Amino acid sequence: MHRYRASLCAACLALLAASSPRAAEPFRVCLDPDVPPLSSASGERHGVFYEVGERLARALGRPFRVFWWPTDLGKRAIRLTVLADRCDAMLGLPFVKGLVGPRLLVAGPLLELGYVLVLPAGARIARMEDLAGGRVAVAFDSEAQTALATLPGVEPVTFRQPEEAVRALLRGEADAAFVWEPAAVRVEQETGTRLVIVRVDGPRLRWQAGVGVARDKRELRDRLDELIARMRSEIAEIARAYGLRYDHAISWNWLPAATRPRDGHLRPRASAVVPIAAATDAAPEVIERGRELFNSVLGCAHCHGPDAVGPDKARDLRRMRIRYRSDWPETYWRAVLEGRLQTRSGLVMPAWKDTAAREDLEAILLWLSSLQLER
Ligand code: HEC
Repeated sequence: MHRYRASLCAACLALLAASSPRAAEPFRVCLDPDVPPLSSASGERHGVFYEVGERLARALGRPFRVFWWPTDLGKRAIRLTVLADRCDAMLGLPFVKGLVGPRLLVAGPLLELGYVLVLPAGARIARMEDLAGGRVAVAFDSEAQTALATLPGVEPVTFRQPEEAVRALLRGEADAAFVWEPAAVRVEQETGTRLVIVRVDGPRLRWQAGVGVARDKRELRDRLDELIARMRSEIAEIARAYGLRYDHAISWNWLPAATRPRDGHLRPRASAVVPIAAATDAAPEVIERGRELFNSVLGCAHCHGPDAVGPDKARDLRRMRIRYRSDWPETYWRAVLEGRLQTRSGLVMPAWKDTAAREDLEAILLWLSSLQLER
């Protein structure tokens, strides 16, 4: 039904586009050919990001064109594609600033992704500690592997790829797998099985995917931001249709803030694989700029208190993660871009969409990330 309505609307847009004096340039999107269910060159359906790209093109009134380009080269893939003008946008990059320096802008967020605990059908877990005494399959050199190493009484079983870890669970060689969520769904679909997928909320375990655009296409980025915000529920529906879901969720604070190492190591492998926290560590100047913008330049501190220590709990922005858990950056964007008229205190939060630069609001978000209280 939704799809039908969307295509009717696309038809009017196409008509409009056709009647304009010059034919619309194609909207060229770079996608990884082999990260189903996110994107895939083979098969009948080409993945979540492919379908989102198609709908964005329709909404822009431009024909959709896809360039399949593997992203396991990390930043090099970005340099050779969006930054070399082979495509207008690359879907699935981490929604953070400074990934490859100032030449890349990011629109979104499109979708939140992360590590999930995969259990055999019918199983349920209340806490990570319940895994004690069992074997847990992980992928080598992943954040999940690092986190798992802190969990007492668990025997890790390591594989080169996350999909292999999930297959080991299916063969009964592990009691659970702790892997990047698309890998779990990919194996479910390949094998026609249904597993239990548990979202794990914790430091560095969740991040947001966005759309990378070259710096000279700022207008396109702003337009994509608007469209993505409007399509949020449609995007979530597409993701669900591809099997991305959580059967239940648990939280796991495996890394107390005080002991967080600040290695600042950024290692983008496939698209959308860099956790937001890791990237945040990489940009101390941006974080300092965020503080300055908040305290003096933009004057957020007038209402939220210096250094975000609020005059009351509702305005204390160090408590956002406590309030919204890993969804807090999304709430940040909504509150800051659109403002908030209805609050319990009757005070108004102004909308900053048209009055503050997106980069400045991003810098504030990155600075706030470093301030979030644990409890
Ligand atoms: C005129 C006063 C005022 C100014 C200036 C202001 N805010 Fe707010 N802000 C508020 C109020 C009031 C709320 C709503 C609190 C509530 O929901 O009760 C709020 C809410 C928020 C929230 C959502 C908090 C939550 O936990 O839901 C964020 C994020 C935020 N502001 C960020 C900012 C940033 C960043 C700036 C500066 C660019 C800013 N605000 C400037 C008054 C202000």
